[in-house]
Amino acid sequence: MPCPPQSDELVFFVNGRKVTERNADPEVTLLVFLRKNWILFQPIRLTGTKYACGRGGCGACTVMVSKYDPVSKKIRHFSVTACLVPICSLHGVAVTTVEGVGSVRTRLHPVQERIAKIHGTQCGFCTPGMVMSMYALLRNHLQPSDEQLMEALGGNLCRCTGYRPILESGKTFCTDSSCCQQKGSGKCCLDQKENGSSSPGGKNDICTELFAKEEFQPLDPTQELIFPPELLKMAQNPEKRTLTFYGERVTWISPGTLQDLLELKVKHPEAPLVLGNTSLGPAMKSQGHFHPILLSPARISELNIVTKTSDGLTIGAGCSLAQVKDILAESISELPEEKTRTYRALLKHLQSLAGQQIRNMASLGGHIISRHCYSDLNPILAVGNAALNLLSEEGPRQIPLNTHFLAGLASADLKPEEILESVHIPHSQKWELVSAFRQAQCRQNALPDVNAAMRVLFREDTDTIEDLGIAYGGVGAATISAQKSCQQLLGRRWNELMLDEACRLVLDEVCLPGSALGGKVEFKRTLIVSFLFKFYLEVLQELKTLVKQFSAPVSALMYRYPEISDRFLSALEDFPVAMPQGIQAYQRVDSHQPLRDPVGRPIMHLSGLKHATGEAVFCDDIPRVDKELFMALVTSTKAHAKIISTDFSEALELPGVVDVVTAGDILGTNGTEDDPLLAGDKVLCVGQIICGVVAETDVQAKRAIENITITYEDLEPVIVSIEDAIKHNSFLCPEKKLEQGNIEEAFEKVDQIVEGEVHIGGQEHFYMETQRVLVIPKTEDKELDIYVSTQDPAHVQKTVASTLNIPINRISCRVKRVGGGFGGKVGRPAVFGAIAAVGAVKTGRPIRLVLDREDDMLITGGRHPLFGKYKVGFMNNGRIKALDIECYINGGCTLDDSELVTEFLILKLENAYKIRNLRFRGRACMTHLPSNTAFRGFGFPQGALVTEACVTAVAAKCGLPPEKVREKNMYKTVDKTIYKQAFNPETLIRCWKECLEKSSFHSRRVRVEEFNRKNYWKKKGIAAVPMKFSVGFAATGYHQAAALVHIYTDGSVLVTHGGNELGQGIHTKMLQVASRELKIPMSHMHICETSTATVPNTIATAASIGADVNGRAVQNACQILLKRLEPVMKKNPEGAWEDWIQAAFEQRISLSATGYFRGYKAFMDWEKGEGDPFPYYVYGAACSEVEIDCLTGTHRKIRTDIVMDACCSLNPAIDIGQIEGAFIQGMGLYTTEELQYSPEGVLYSRSPDEYKIPTITDVPEEFNVSLLPSSQTPLTIYSSKGLGESGMFLGSSVFFAIADAVATARRERDVAEDFTVKSPATPERVRMACADRFTEMIPRDDPKTFKPWSIPIA
Ligand SMILES: Cc1cc2nc3c(=O)[nH]c(=O)nc-3n(C[C@H](O)[C@H](O)[C@H](O)COP(=O)(O)OP(=O)(O)OC[C@H]3O[C@@H](n4cnc5c(N)ncnc54)[C@H](O)[C@@H]3O)c2cc1C
Ligand code: FES
Ligand code: FES
Repeated sequence: MPCPPQSDELVFFVNGRKVTERNADPEVTLLVFLRKNWILFQPIRLTGTKYACGRGGCGACTVMVSKYDPVSKKIRHFSVTACLVPICSLHGVAVTTVEGVGSVRTRLHPVQERIAKIHGTQCGFCTPGMVMSMYALLRNHLQPSDEQLMEALGGNLCRCTGYRPILESGKTFCTDSSCCQQKGSGKCCLDQKENGSSSPGGKNDICTELFAKEEFQPLDPTQELIFPPELLKMAQNPEKRTLTFYGERVTWISPGTLQDLLELKVKHPEAPLVLGNTSLGPAMKSQGHFHPILLSPARISELNIVTKTSDGLTIGAGCSLAQVKDILAESISELPEEKTRTYRALLKHLQSLAGQQIRNMASLGGHIISRHCYSDLNPILAVGNAALNLLSEEGPRQIPLNTHFLAGLASADLKPEEILESVHIPHSQKWELVSAFRQAQCRQNALPDVNAAMRVLFREDTDTIEDLGIAYGGVGAATISAQKSCQQLLGRRWNELMLDEACRLVLDEVCLPGSALGGKVEFKRTLIVSFLFKFYLEVLQELKTLVKQFSAPVSALMYRYPEISDRFLSALEDFPVAMPQGIQAYQRVDSHQPLRDPVGRPIMHLSGLKHATGEAVFCDDIPRVDKELFMALVTSTKAHAKIISTDFSEALELPGVVDVVTAGDILGTNGTEDDPLLAGDKVLCVGQIICGVVAETDVQAKRAIENITITYEDLEPVIVSIEDAIKHNSFLCPEKKLEQGNIEEAFEKVDQIVEGEVHIGGQEHFYMETQRVLVIPKTEDKELDIYVSTQDPAHVQKTVASTLNIPINRISCRVKRVGGGFGGKVGRPAVFGAIAAVGAVKTGRPIRLVLDREDDMLITGGRHPLFGKYKVGFMNNGRIKALDIECYINGGCTLDDSELVTEFLILKLENAYKIRNLRFRGRACMTHLPSNTAFRGFGFPQGALVTEACVTAVAAKCGLPPEKVREKNMYKTVDKTIYKQAFNPETLIRCWKECLEKSSFHSRRVRVEEFNRKNYWKKKGIAAVPMKFSVGFAATGYHQAAALVHIYTDGSVLVTHGGNELGQGIHTKMLQVASRELKIPMSHMHICETSTATVPNTIATAASIGADVNGRAVQNACQILLKRLEPVMKKNPEGAWEDWIQAAFEQRISLSATGYFRGYKAFMDWEKGEGDPFPYYVYGAACSEVEIDCLTGTHRKIRTDIVMDACCSLNPAIDIGQIEGAFIQGMGLYTTEELQYSPEGVLYSRSPDEYKIPTITDVPEEFNVSLLPSSQTPLTIYSSKGLGESGMFLGSSVFFAIADAVATARRERDVAEDFTVKSPATPERVRMACADRFTEMIPRDDPKTFKPWSIPIA
């Protein structure tokens, strides 16, 4: 074999430590490098930086890069996503990871301290990334503005907290918050809204402080790591030599001079230039692009030069988009407005393009050359007549950045040996106007569905079009220019006639077929003309100013521009990005409660500080164990097919590949017949697991799966949607039904009847930590240790045992913490654990299995999509007399939890309403999609939306406000539910009333109506929803729990219980309980992990009941211990805890106790339709106000108020965190989270690019949460309530507020007010529902004439 050439040395610093890498592999990213310690003799292993998506879309892997900038001669600090940074690009830079910022062992950084103490961490998986984004911000701005903070965190996703506390921690460093900054002092503008209820000492004392600001260390910039002097020297005397790094498959060449780069480009014309790697990187990862040679111009300073000339700006192609943003902002501040119109349009889009990290990495050149069809900048550069300055050995050349270039026409493109040196962006002129528009699923960190840039030049002193440019993105394979239309409009005057003509021409020219990639075809067509209309109005407005500024009075008289009515002006304003404000209020503990008793106090999450420093260990942070192998999964590419053959031979020959694990290797049971762990001879969905490849490394295992051939024979039918399933009579289980009263008779007596449909899409869990497991086989007695990220270790243990055909007692399952579960880690981890265990037994070696985000989203299923039909009979006063609801959920291909979800759905459908005659029916459909499973709320968030949609429809028919109809039909006195369980709705009514009162609902409704009268293109909506949420499982056995408490001879206490730490703070609450019971501080106690070896036969941590039942078990164990200690304590009443423990030990008193809780009684008899299925209810209410843009469908959340009955919260910080996090997750379900499936059942949305969970800009601008005071329940531990899931449904208040705004728009436009309710209320749905002249003018395709890109499955 030929000897590989010798690589140059790659030198960079990590956390102040020099790294010299002699064999740098260009395919290795910084994330892998930091986490894996793959370099011999270099113990790097920094696992604080997390993997969550691998595509730059979530920010979990954020680190800070510091670099000497030869142009400005300053050191630049900026955040990057380590998953997209090739290590070879790091030569000469310093990297700071979360470990370099601070540590619990040495010194915490204020950013770390504050995010933890302000309760900004729950599962903690996103926290290191959040810390690093804030840290990088503070390295550049000691006192950033609110805007800078929002910008810095825009690229970081968190699935748990709802962002509010994260932002709050950042705000403590900011200067110019719009609030008066005295929150919690009682003097704050927001505190005043608490109706003066913050008087100290009283029983009803309401507190709005969840943390003590005074405790925080000040930010001291002198403590930060300095830029390594060695790197400074290297940068100031740059080496001109070309550096080359040879990897196994790829060579990285980094020339030191421009001339060398040009020579290399001649030698390797096919080799791409890597700048930010934000385009190349994802394409190499997900689209299989491969480049054996990569050229890096990172050391060529000529590509970073910025020149300002009299006619424009020339910006080096190597400048990052963040730098471009600063350059443009500077020019805008220096130049007269008329010259900066193109720059303003670019700046506007740069504010929402990706997240801060991507803007820091991505280069202007890379952006332009990538020519993505969705590019936000290329349309503006094209209409702004930008030019590209190219360079090759032949010399310089300039080409226009026009549509031909963007379409990739060879005649208008770079030659293979050319590079882009810089981009010239001319100034705009006096009578020239430029605008840019973009519409995406979310306002921040989301690729646009459609964007547009438009420029018009008027003949001086007139409104006659001299030149016009219109370009669109997202509506074709490249940026598309409406050139012909523009030509035809030259010479036309700027008026309505021109607009109509322009719309017609543009729709003709920019045509989008019905089957276009990405779907949303009618929406995109509508946006094409809606943007044009916005531009028309903007220009009309501007023209007035121009005429005033520049024209002779005579021209001003000559040209009478059409007046825009004030009502239409709202089309022009973009929604601002506002820093959320708000209060969190809860009842202070009784003043007599001893200070050392932590129950009821806002104690920080036990792992909070470790989350913030990256020292909290998650499953994949466990160091590589001896002889460890990696497993990658092969999944079906067919939705319904017979497996004819499998061929592993090629894969098995690849280097590092050890084995393939198939169903044939399973010694015990392969799941169940209907739901096998590994497919046998048939597959039932795309994404079903067929086999696992085991190799020495993850890279080898993943490469091997690409070399496995599986031959299928398609089977019929392929059922994807609920509609199809009903047609094929394809169901997973029998119908579930509950009935009360006489529904048929009642329908005959009512004033009115309405029938309707509701469609609710599914939801991806999107826990930040994907599914992962490490199985370590022991050498003796078939024992296995399993480290797994699960909500149910006992289920993993049991499944592994039956799969391997060994007793359960040989398997020990351990869970330290889980990076988010939300129901998605109840059932699935057992499958991954079992498959990995089969591999471990087969190979005799430990197996690690870590799912990529794409695979996780593809394989694991999520919330059930639902289709509901309702028929509701009511009196004209809004009193509902009869309600008949029939629901179908899309269960996917196997039963999983679908039967239980159907049951819960039916049980919970009535929500807060007392309706005498009811019939609820539900069925789970069997389709050829991955099996759907448990998800926070377990059917309630879907079902209750149907009920609330009915109520809204009734209100519309009666001409009453929906809240009146809600109130009229709500339970009011002690009563029985549809399943005859008695309950008292007193606190439900209190929550509802307080919510309306605190939100000033009625006066705001009046203001909303007034706003709507005055604005045609923007509409506000307001809605309040009540909630009765049942907690727990419908079976007593599921409520049992156990705990094991050991006291050691030094007095320290180890608490173990059956609950898993998922971020919900269960361990913190358990220590609060133990501390109260044992009367010793929490600092004496510790929880190490959840393990099947210490507490066996546990129940899944789910159904909001974890802290209740495990708390009772911990309490029981502590009480047993205390009872044993009593004689010792009595004997020495003055003694200290440690003395008593020592004495007890000497007296042979056992210092270990098992606590047990037998469970709340719960049962349901489906035959009779009655039972006591739930131990108790959580009541709540939420009110939300939104504003929609009728032209684009986007919305802003103006305000949300939540009142929740938590009774006596064990920990108000944690409980408020659960409510807020669940609310934001619910808001995602109902507004932005949209799964896209092909007609063949292939899930398209498999990354944060395609599936949008809420980001930081989605938090309501004012967000108030209060826990209802003076509420008690005798049933639960210390009268607390489980709040994990209930907040989810309250997110629907945003949905109904949007529906309210849409209904107003429809009323005004004289379109039928009732329309089929579809969730999520995406911009597409909102825009299309706000029917107007633009939705009418677009072409519509006959559905029979094309195959759509995606189809609805609900
Ligand atoms: C998470 C995420 C979100 C995003 N969101 C948005 C968004 O909202 N809107 C949007 O418009 N874009 C978005 N993008 C795309 C982003 O703008 C581009 O990926 C980026 O601008 C490419 O720049 P780069 O430096 O990373 O290019 P690279 O990936 O390094 O290179 C891309 C291509 O450009 C070529 N190239 C680079 N420089 C030169 C040069 N000087 N001369 C010749 N060829 C060159 C390379 O050969 C390569 O083919 C997003 C990307 C990510 C990862
Ligand atoms: S893991 Fe890097 S951005 Fe998501
Ligand atoms: S705390 Fe942010 S993802 Fe869990």
